[in-house]
Amino acid sequence: MSLWTKHQVFEKNSFALLIGILIMVSIGGLVEIAPLFYLKSTIEETEGVRPYTPLELAGRNIYVREGCYLCHSQMIRPMRDELERYGHFSLAAESMYDHPFQWGSKRTGPDLARVGGKYSDDWHVEHLRDPRLVVPASVMPGYPFLAETALDTYGIADHLKVNALVGVPYTDEQIAEAGRDMLGQANPDTDASDAFKERYPTALVRDFDGNPKAVTEMDALVAYLQMLGTLVDFSIYDDKANLR
Ligand code: HEC
Repeated sequence: MSLWTKHQVFEKNSFALLIGILIMVSIGGLVEIAPLFYLKSTIEETEGVRPYTPLELAGRNIYVREGCYLCHSQMIRPMRDELERYGHFSLAAESMYDHPFQWGSKRTGPDLARVGGKYSDDWHVEHLRDPRLVVPASVMPGYPFLAETALDTYGIADHLKVNALVGVPYTDEQIAEAGRDMLGQANPDTDASDAFKERYPTALVRDFDGNPKAVTEMDALVAYLQMLGTLVDFSIYDDKANLR
């Protein structure tokens, strides 16, 4: 009997076929799932990745509130066209402190995973106020009210606390001082900003919205946009990891 005639057993007997399928599928499942039980984490530790500062976290909350994720993804796939347009593909570690993650599923606008540092703060402020001031053909809506709305410090400590509950390593001090740190990051040359810098040594400190009189929702959103994708220094990985 050749191999092909032996296969008749499965073709003529649906029960044998079912058992055969179950055996094959469970082998595939085991190969994929079993290793996960032996790994402490599937996310490689990556130098530079840190939790969001209170101001960035507030900006991220505004990003979610305004539904920016409906038009923007934050996930660069390892394909040549994406690498050329957006830069190094996204690493799992880069969204390890995102609860929930903002990978998105639609790109009416460009991917934002590495938008940090691409434009000046002024550009972002103009663009968020009215995108057509800087990109005449843009279909993105304007958010002019962000620059006029004072940032509410109420609840920010609780936001950090909840993130800590799901595994973000905020210290008790960072949680207790969250409100002060939030204002400190946007008010350079103040005592609050000095204290902030000690707690978040690698974060940007500046008046993001260009209005020194108030800390607004615009400050928070621009602070968030300006740090996206900037935490990992890819120049040290370039030769090995970049598919270009
Ligand atoms: C209706 C879809 C839509 C929504 C909602 C939207 N955008 Fe956009 N966005 C676009 C489009 C289209 C572009 C490209 C044209 C432009 O630059 O304005 C863009 C561009 C951008 C850029 C420039 C990206 C680059 O690399 O040039 C940033 C930053 C940005 N959007 C941020 C935001 C933020 C923050 C929000 C939420 C407050 C938001 N967008 C909401 C559609 C949208």
